[in-house]
Amino acid sequence: MTIPLPIETERLVLRAFTVEDVEAMLSVYGDPEVMRFIPSGVLDAPATARMLAAYRRAQETRGFSVWAVVLKSTGRIVGDAGFNLFAETGEPELGYSLARHAWGNGYASEAASGCLAAAFAHLHCVRVVALVDVDNEASQRVAARIGMERIDTIQAHGRPHALFVRSREAA
Ligand SMILES: CC(C)(COP(=O)(O)OP(=O)(O)OC[C@H]1O[C@@H](n2cnc3c(N)ncnc32)[C@H](O)[C@@H]1OP(=O)(O)O)[C@@H](O)C(=O)NCCC(=O)NCCS
Repeated sequence: MTIPLPIETERLVLRAFTVEDVEAMLSVYGDPEVMRFIPSGVLDAPATARMLAAYRRAQETRGFSVWAVVLKSTGRIVGDAGFNLFAETGEPELGYSLARHAWGNGYASEAASGCLAAAFAHLHCVRVVALVDVDNEASQRVAARIGMERIDTIQAHGRPHALFVRSREAA
C-alpha cells in the first residue's frame, strides 16, 4: 500500500521531505503559535531534521507519511500535510500544519482534501481519522470543510480531542 508522490492539487504539490527542507520547516515547527496544539511542542533545528528524516523513512517503508506542502506559484514550502498512524486503531490519521504566513488562504483544506483523495485511491483503508484538540477551532474547521464528521471526543496526549472520521463510502 503506497501513495505515489507527488500529490497535486490546484495550487499545491505534496512531496516527500528532503534534508534541504529543514530551514523552511523550522519556520513551522519552531513557531510556538503553530505548535500550540501539537503534542511535541516547539522543535529546534536538530529535532526538525530528525522529524523530516522520520517522515521520509515512513514514506519509504510504510508507503505513506507526512509530506511537504509546496506552493506551485512560488516553489515555497508552506507547511506539512499527510498521515501518521492513529495509535488506537492503526488507521491513517490525517494531519496538517502551515507556517503562520500561509494561514487564511485555504491551503490546509486544499492539501488535506488531496490527502484524503489519495488515501482512498491508493490505501485499502475503510476510514481516515483526524484527532483535533477541542480548543483548536481552525483545525476543526478544516476537518469539517473537507467532509470529515466529528463522531466522538476522546482523551489523547492528556487533552480532550475531537475525533473526526471520513469513511470510504462518503469519499
Ligand atoms: C490548522 C491550520 C492548518 C488551518 O489553517 P487555515 O489557514 O485556517 O486553514 P485553510 O488553509 O483551510 O484556510 C481556511 C481559511 O482561509 C480562508 N480562505 C481564503 N481563501 C480561501 C480559498 N481560496 N479557499 C478556501 N479558504 C480560503 C477561509 O475563509 C478560511 O478561513 P476561516 O476558517 O476563518 O473561515 C492552521 O491554523 C495551523 O497551521 N495551525 C497550527 C497547526 C495545527 O494546529 N494543525 C492541526 C493539528 S490537528
